[in-house]
Amino acid sequence: MLDSTPAPLAIEVRGLKKTFPVRTRGAVPKPTPADPGQDGASASPPGQPPTPPPKQSRRGAFVEAVSGIDLDVPHGQVFAFLGPNGAGKTTTLRILTTLLPATSGTAKVAGFDVTTQQRQVRRNIGYVGQLGGTDLDHATGRENLVLAARLYGLRKRDALTRAAELLEGFDLTALADQETSTYSGGQRRRLDVALGMVGQPSVLFLDEPSTGLDPQNRMNLWDQVRRLRAAGTTVFLTTHYLDEADALADNVAIMDHGQIIARGTPAELKARTGSTTLDDVFLTLTGRVLRDTESQEVRS
Ligand SMILES: Nc1ncnc2c1ncn2[C@@H]1O[C@H](COP(=O)(O)OP(=O)(O)O)[C@@H](O)[C@H]1O
Ligand SMILES: [Mg+2]
Repeated sequence: MLDSTPAPLAIEVRGLKKTFPVRTRGAVPKPTPADPGQDGASASPPGQPPTPPPKQSRRGAFVEAVSGIDLDVPHGQVFAFLGPNGAGKTTTLRILTTLLPATSGTAKVAGFDVTTQQRQVRRNIGYVGQLGGTDLDHATGRENLVLAARLYGLRKRDALTRAAELLEGFDLTALADQETSTYSGGQRRRLDVALGMVGQPSVLFLDEPSTGLDPQNRMNLWDQVRRLRAAGTTVFLTTHYLDEADALADNVAIMDHGQIIARGTPAELKARTGSTTLDDVFLTLTGRVLRDTESQEVRS
């Protein structure tokens, strides 16, 4: 039998939408001219991401965090999902990793449907959340990795071998037997990514992997991501650092207020908007400076 169907995409998203109910006591506040919110966004408390204006349905007020997006990510690429705080990046990532149900639309990851084939999706992915995965502060890096490997069903011996490989691969061997509470931000982040790779996923999701890292640790993390790509892993990362997308990504989608406003290779996006940097691309597309939103970054 002739098989002319192309290899399935690593990630395929169609019309994905997510709404959250807005829980308010009394009436939904309407934006007023005094509100600091821009572009129709309602006011947010200082330090909070800008919140899209709530909409009304018969079931009450809701916020549309993801507004019916499409995405195609080929295997083996680094794909950067770019946008300011509150754009809907984390919500999208949580749907793609089966942590959150979509309101409507479909998404396939590694060929499996995130709604009807959750187990298969989970078996094929790694996920490093925005706040990191190392939650055992009094355990060592090695113990964290061995525990994660055991949770994946590896026998003790195999778990130890896998942990040693990952410690080596992420330049953590020298720190392997220290408690993670003694690690620097960069070292912890490397351990987080190593934890995401324990199950040898074909698709790795990283939510803002370099937020809060100093330049040298960011470069180091970028090297790790490039190594993962060289080994065949698809890496889907969110960032609001445009230079990160520029330096790392094969393809980029720019998200703003729940919608994808541009996509392509960094070079295509720059050429299309006549910009020299991705920062200029965002400014040209939205009239806003993406960097302004960085000062609102909250890390709880
Ligand atoms: N659990 C939730 N309940 C209500 N609103 C939410 C929830 N999670 C996210 N949101 C809202 O959805 C929008 C997108 O958030 P998020 O996906 O975290 O954006 P990003 O990761 O791009 O900063 C924001 O307006 C946010 O306030
Ligand atoms: Mg986020």
